[in-house]
Amino acid sequence: MNGQENQTIIIPTMYRTKTCGELRLANAGERVTLAGWVQSIHNLGALTFVDLRDRYGVTQLAFNEDAPEDLRQKAARLGREYVVQATGRVIERHSKNPNIPTGEIEILVDRLDILNESLVPPFTIEEHTDGGDDLRMKYRYLDLRRACVRRNLELRHRLAIEVRRYLDGQDFLEIETPVLVNSTPEGARDFVVPSRMNKGQFYALPQSPQTLKQLLMVAGMDRYFQIVKCFRDEDLRADRQPEFTQIDCEMSFVGQEDVLRTFEGMMRHLFQAVKGIDLPELPRMTWADAMKYYGSDKPDTRFGMRFVELKNHQPDNASRQTVDSLFPAGFQVFDQAAYIGAIRCEGQASCTRKQLDQLTDFVKRPQVGARGLVYARVQQDGTVRSSVDKFYGPDTLAQLRDRMQARPGDLILILSGDDAMRTRRQLCELRLEMGTRMGLRDKGRYSCLWVIDFPMYEWSDEEQRLMAMHHPFTSPKPEDIPLLDTDPASVRANAYDMVINGVEVGGGSIRIHEAGLQQKIFEVLGFTPQQARRKFGFLMDAFKYGAPPHGGLAFGLDRLVSLFAGLDSIRDCIAFPKNNSGRDVMLDAPGALEPSQLDELAISVRLPQ
Ligand code: AMO
Repeated sequence: MNGQENQTIIIPTMYRTKTCGELRLANAGERVTLAGWVQSIHNLGALTFVDLRDRYGVTQLAFNEDAPEDLRQKAARLGREYVVQATGRVIERHSKNPNIPTGEIEILVDRLDILNESLVPPFTIEEHTDGGDDLRMKYRYLDLRRACVRRNLELRHRLAIEVRRYLDGQDFLEIETPVLVNSTPEGARDFVVPSRMNKGQFYALPQSPQTLKQLLMVAGMDRYFQIVKCFRDEDLRADRQPEFTQIDCEMSFVGQEDVLRTFEGMMRHLFQAVKGIDLPELPRMTWADAMKYYGSDKPDTRFGMRFVELKNHQPDNASRQTVDSLFPAGFQVFDQAAYIGAIRCEGQASCTRKQLDQLTDFVKRPQVGARGLVYARVQQDGTVRSSVDKFYGPDTLAQLRDRMQARPGDLILILSGDDAMRTRRQLCELRLEMGTRMGLRDKGRYSCLWVIDFPMYEWSDEEQRLMAMHHPFTSPKPEDIPLLDTDPASVRANAYDMVINGVEVGGGSIRIHEAGLQQKIFEVLGFTPQQARRKFGFLMDAFKYGAPPHGGLAFGLDRLVSLFAGLDSIRDCIAFPKNNSGRDVMLDAPGALEPSQLDELAISVRLPQ
């Protein structure tokens, strides 16, 4: 697949007999024709060397002093990124390049055709380019010529092929669903498309094919998948794009265990086929434990450093019982806190004062939002020196050490706050930062798990109501159904996420398949029967015609590829991504419409002042 590592033999075409990645010493003496782009030109007086690049690799062309004058003149005209066709004999190189697979040979050229000239590219098209992000995105077609970027697309292709191979083997059917639909319920804003034929009306682009795949189950398709574009108008981050790709799947006559086993199998197949890694059986962690011990529903389990609660007067879904404070009264911040949590950083007691100040600044950044950081170092003799020594005696600090199971040389970092969930999230950021500083988040190591038993609902401050944590078609755990009337916030869902290295790569649920229960869930979400009917009447009607029990999930293909490739952002594995303002800087989209188009759509544009 990748000419740099595996030799690819492609069928000769009218422009070439070989690619720039396949010739080796064994080919010496053959006459070949190559075609590609001029990567670099080295002029050594009588000798000229040209590196010719195509998707498969780089091969050196040589023009020697005996070459006819017109050939040498043509070679002298070449510039970077010219497209050329060169014919000649494969010969062994004098000075070999061990860094590339074709490094032992070169082509002694006797015929050269310039197929196209090129302007000087705005950045160097090499592994380490001098082009900044914006420039590379504007000229993405040049950026994509770089081997490191191209390799990400090759990996993406390989993953998609292996997904299809595995799911086809499990009898899944790949079925396309429409892109011009109505609003779908994933909780982000919709991208909308005006309808010319139905003036004043709009399609919404799917945030996912959720309702359609459920209808396919009602239709008896039994097992469906689709590698499909989804669209969400939300704030962008390194792992979010406004249009992204899901591996969307649904199965009939299954319970949670069946779905988890099927897709654990898929992940095992992908790791084996694409990375040669044998995944162990995936551990499962409840959402409550993930929040309690990692402060996140997508814990990075490549390393430990689990939270220890030193005080919790605010039992919630994640911590069902109160924990008395380890600290006697004296330090106002801890006295007033509802929650105190800590992590143990092995061997970090040698942290300098400056590093600790940096960590304090880190947790106080608005993005993290803690008010301060308390630390304690376990000395070689086992005694503890802390930033709160003046409030607590050696006995309390020794208790802290023991509760944290800390050994000499360890550093204990403590955060406190008046809201347990918020403080846990802050401690999560600190844990990840320490993991990074301590080199525990190696991109070449993979730690995968299922997070299960999510709550059905979460409270939205913005909307001042309970919202579906996954989506409104998720079924509650049967044993929690009675709580829907008394304590809906504590109802757990048959919902699950797959998490790899702290990234949510996929998520799904067992669905509700009875119209009555679905109606009830809509009620708890605050929909009136009329609103529910208007939005999802088609689905509730379908459920009246024999809906089978069903469930499924969707993986984010972009996130999977970027994890497999060890990338920092999913943009790097998307051929033409959007920037952080949702713009395609190459196409200059989005753009304004012509007045005539607006008229045709009966749209008048009113920009905010
Ligand atoms: P969910 O909303 O969890 O579930 O999405 C599934 C997976 O899609 C990926 N993902 C994204 N990737 C890149 N950019 C984004 N903006 C983005 N948003 C989501 C994540 C996520 O785990 N219909 C349900 C699935 C189901 O219940 O079957 C759904 O869409 O990797």
